[in-house]
Amino acid sequence: MRAEISQSISKAVKYIFVIYVAASLIYTAHHLYATYSAGNADISLHRPSLQRDSSPVVEHPIEAKKETRLDKQIVWVNEQGVDQNMPENFMLSKVFSDAMGPSKVIPYYFKAQAAFDVEDITIATLVTQDRFPVLSRLVTHYQGPISVAIHIQDDESHEEILADLHELYRANPLMKEYVDLHLIVDKFDRQFNMWRNVAKFFARSDYIVMLDVDFHICTDFRKSIRQNPAVMDKLRSGTTALVIPAFEFVEQPDGLDWKTFPTNKPDLLQLVGDEKIDMFHRAWKKGHGSTNYTKWYESDAVYEVTDYNFSYEPYVIYKKEGSPWCDERFIGYGANKAACLYEIYLSGIQYEVLPHDFLIHQTHYYPESERAKERAYNRKLYDNFREEVCLRYARMFIEAGDWESPRAENLRLECHKIRAFRTAIKSLS
Ligand SMILES: *[C@@H]1O[C@H](CO)[C@@H](O)[C@H](O)[C@H]1NC(C)=O
Ligand SMILES: *[C@@H]1O[C@H](CO)[C@@H](O)[C@H](O)[C@H]1NC(C)=O
Repeated sequence: MRAEISQSISKAVKYIFVIYVAASLIYTAHHLYATYSAGNADISLHRPSLQRDSSPVVEHPIEAKKETRLDKQIVWVNEQGVDQNMPENFMLSKVFSDAMGPSKVIPYYFKAQAAFDVEDITIATLVTQDRFPVLSRLVTHYQGPISVAIHIQDDESHEEILADLHELYRANPLMKEYVDLHLIVDKFDRQFNMWRNVAKFFARSDYIVMLDVDFHICTDFRKSIRQNPAVMDKLRSGTTALVIPAFEFVEQPDGLDWKTFPTNKPDLLQLVGDEKIDMFHRAWKKGHGSTNYTKWYESDAVYEVTDYNFSYEPYVIYKKEGSPWCDERFIGYGANKAACLYEIYLSGIQYEVLPHDFLIHQTHYYPESERAKERAYNRKLYDNFREEVCLRYARMFIEAGDWESPRAENLRLECHKIRAFRTAIKSLS
């Protein structure tokens, strides 16, 4: 079901993208008085309302939702050129219908001014207020397309967050140049997978890298991939997700200053040899172990992940279109990213590891208390989810006549480990 939904959504989105441009034009003409629009990157139009300066029309975008006449519209146009409007909010409520709601998604609250190549790689990430400075650094460092989802708690605190955000834009002009920033305004915290989907949905290039903002990009993977036709073909095919191996300093204080981080593989290997740096989360081998670090140390070419584990949660670059979305029922800590990557894997996408590129986690301190409860909850959810995804995709492969195809191989091998699946599949095939 969800796979079908995702498919039809991505089809619909192709269509809407074209229509949306037309709609914006029509709509802008009709509503020149509208205070913000999807295509606008001018910070001055978005001043948070708490900054009371005397300049005219600075309506607060979040407050605009109350003004239904100003609600943006999606326009559906049929072959005969007949159009039909639909409120954008209604459309988006369907797009993110598995998440908790109601939720107000404001796409392109800030829109990047730089022109991007469609074949570029967009960093899709989510950022909380305490990580704003880290985002700014990432932008300065990457200088490529970035699509960011920011959650804004729907209470008094939103003015402070927005003020911080505007300050961030003022302090770093590159933000305006490279970042598409989307807001999610609701009462629900830590809907990580929904936020990830927002960042992916509104990314404007064909490929995205699903990245945690805390990671420092040590090498120019964007360049190394785009200059390598064979690797680009893998991305284009939509059947490969490229893994960028992630590392972490053994002593947390060593990971505080990115300026001291290695920028090439030989330097990194030196630190590995000195036992100063290791795979990310070495205490939780399942998370990144499938990358096979010992193999990576010796590799000079892209290689395939052969020992996939359902807890595997690497940072990957993959094609936006045709790849599964992150299941939005995972809320809070634990299993959320693994669930994304599980569905991507079962859909027939292969993980292949980049031999020369890597990321390093930048140390920061966070409270652990909330996490334990959420982890227990999500562990249970993930057990059920795997069974469900296996059945859903098995059925899809069978009905499409692809059950014996290489595309279904990941599923056949991985799902076979689930006893309930083995029983159920007998009645299907
Ligand atoms: C991978 O997953 C299996 C369960 O399928 C588990 O028993 C095993 O320990 C995991 N391997 C690693 C390297 O974590
Ligand atoms: C990791 O790679 C090494 C070297 O290529 C290989 O010998 C080993 O079997 C691999 N480990 C796993 C778990 O696949």
